[in-house]
Amino acid sequence: MSKLNEYLNRIYASSLPELKDLEQVLSLSSPEELNELFSFADSVRKEFCGDGIILRGIIEFSNFCFRQCFYCGLNKNNRKLERYRMNKDELFKAVEYLVSSKIKTVVLQSGEDEGLDVLWLRDVILEIKSRFDIAITLSLGERSADDYGVWKQAGADRYLLKIETSDEDLYSSLHPQMEFIQRLNCLDVLRKLGYQVGSGNLIGLPGQTLEMIAQDIIFFKRGDFDMIGIGPFIPHQNTQFAGQRKGDLKLTLKTIALTRIVTKNAHIPATTALGSLDKDYRMEGLKCGANVLMPNFTPQPFRKLYEIYPQKRCVNEPVGACNFCIDSMAKSLERFVDYSKADSLKERRVNSNV
Ligand code: SAM
Ligand code: FES
Repeated sequence: MSKLNEYLNRIYASSLPELKDLEQVLSLSSPEELNELFSFADSVRKEFCGDGIILRGIIEFSNFCFRQCFYCGLNKNNRKLERYRMNKDELFKAVEYLVSSKIKTVVLQSGEDEGLDVLWLRDVILEIKSRFDIAITLSLGERSADDYGVWKQAGADRYLLKIETSDEDLYSSLHPQMEFIQRLNCLDVLRKLGYQVGSGNLIGLPGQTLEMIAQDIIFFKRGDFDMIGIGPFIPHQNTQFAGQRKGDLKLTLKTIALTRIVTKNAHIPATTALGSLDKDYRMEGLKCGANVLMPNFTPQPFRKLYEIYPQKRCVNEPVGACNFCIDSMAKSLERFVDYSKADSLKERRVNSNV
């Protein structure tokens, strides 16, 4: 057994891995060792999640945001961005299109939009649930427990709220006027309300160390999240972090692989950001532990205005171009596209209320 194999088996077998072991694996660089790590993670993915590539269709229905996150192109200080909020007709049309593409989960995402009325979204959720047999994931940032409750009651199934980094000091340095503890509270409230809860981080944030990323993986394990999104940070020209280096591909893949080995059956996407580096690396993500893709169903002209970071994948693709692309990825990996709702694989799993 190689030294690396020993580390990987120890991490796999442990109920809470040692920070040092994770850090050690995150620092690997030789192609042979990376191959060994990725194929170990791929076999854990196969053991716990099977060969299905799950689809989550995303609709980015508003790019208004009152936050000032230093890394994000939607932050309120980016005055160059034209803002939009889709109306109900536009939204339902996009959902209809997603359903006609056989997809069974819609992710409704927006910036932290103060103009998003809680009852407006409740009605949208009620109508989607009455018209279509699909699961709804919300990804709208921090809201009150009451708002989360109203949307759960209306039928929302899942909520995605990334922690971005589990290091409190780094978190504060990126998010003016936001509190780490508040993020944790939101995750806690969402779980208590019965949402399937997703979190995740960004790789390559200015000031981030390998130890912090190892700590993120332990945070994911402790939180027993249903979904975990891991993507490279990509600098945006109209943010505080313009000109910073983008997140490293290999480090992102290593983090995905370790997160798979540690969390076993969490749903992990090959993120759009991974597809938006110098080329599309989502296949690499799928080969080292990821089991989800998130095709974009935001209609034009809105899609190109949801510019979290530049050169976002599929931004000029006609809606629907993704089906072909995803089928061919699945084929070449000898896997299949899973068109089910694909609820959480965790034991305390909460089924979608349909
Ligand atoms: N407002 C919601 C929230 O805060 O959770 C959802 C929208 S937010 C734009 C979605 C995700 O985009 C964030 O969780 C973050 O990880 C990612 N993101 C933002 N800026 C990014 C960048 N420059 N590079 C890569 N990902 C970025
Ligand atoms: Fe959109 Fe391939 S996933 S074109």
